Amino acid sequence: MDLKGKKALVTGGAVRIGRAICEMLADGGADVCIHYSRSYDQACSLKDDLEKRGVQAHIAEANLMTETACTELMDKAVALLGPFDILINNASVFNKQTLDEADMDVWMGEMWPNFFAPVQLMRRFAKQTSKGKVVNMLDRRVTSLDTACVPYLISKKALEEVTRMGALHYAPGISVNGVAPGAVLPPPGKDEQYIVDHAGPVPLEVRVTPRDIASAVRFVLENDTITGQVVFVDGGQHLGNG
Ligand SMILES: NC(=O)c1ccc[n+]([C@@H]2O[C@H](COP(=O)([O-])OP(=O)(O)OC[C@H]3O[C@@H](n4cnc5c(N)ncnc54)[C@H](OP(=O)(O)O)[C@@H]3O)[C@@H](O)[C@H]2O)c1
Repeated sequence: MDLKGKKALVTGGAVRIGRAICEMLADGGADVCIHYSRSYDQACSLKDDLEKRGVQAHIAEANLMTETACTELMDKAVALLGPFDILINNASVFNKQTLDEADMDVWMGEMWPNFFAPVQLMRRFAKQTSKGKVVNMLDRRVTSLDTACVPYLISKKALEEVTRMGALHYAPGISVNGVAPGAVLPPPGKDEQYIVDHAGPVPLEVRVTPRDIASAVRFVLENDTITGQVVFVDGGQHLGNG
């Protein structure tokens, strides 16, 4: 797929990795709908920035905790920008909770934005186009059993499985892939020391940047022969040894 002239919806697109993905899409010539929940000011500044790059940009607010919110977001986005060619399921919540610590509120607080919302948005996306691309943002830990963040990791593991099922289900018109970052940015509210303390050994001894993640997203979007794949962008961390 040539990004030029395509229309993309990026959830959680106003800040951090989502912002880098929006910038990459605009640099490729795609029009972008930036979804946000709380980052209104950042969404507005990104919209201005993308428009200066010569593409159309819109913002759309939604708290992705219900099916209705997901449906309304897709409907609002389509009304603003027209049918979409690209859906990037990037919005996410990350909390460290063990099996004992996580009550049902915690579980649903992770499962909705990280799993149910991407599934609902993918279904709505497939209703408004017969040809397109979905990229689900995963985590390099989907290959491991990190017992410190159980609801988060289960939500990402479930999203990985539905990435493969969606790839089969929506072929031949729609491809569905995953991009699994390693430690890129500390969680909101934490500083760089968090990465030093928690990232663990990286075989390639590199620090992954938001631009590295955006570049992997671009790769799976531009290649029309890839579906049901997970691209790990983590310096090899998913291979094990820590
Ligand atoms: N950062 C990393 O090092 C890392 C590592 C592994 C995987 N990942 C994955 O890569 C993706 C991007 O990472 P990130 O760290 O940039 O993400 P993030 O900052 O944790 O979250 C991205 C955005 O998700 C939105 N969001 C959260 N809860 C929401 C809700 N209930 N409804 C709607 N939107 C909601 C927020 O938007 P607002 O700000 O507008 O409220 C938030 O800014 C995520 O899927 C993450 O799991 C990141």
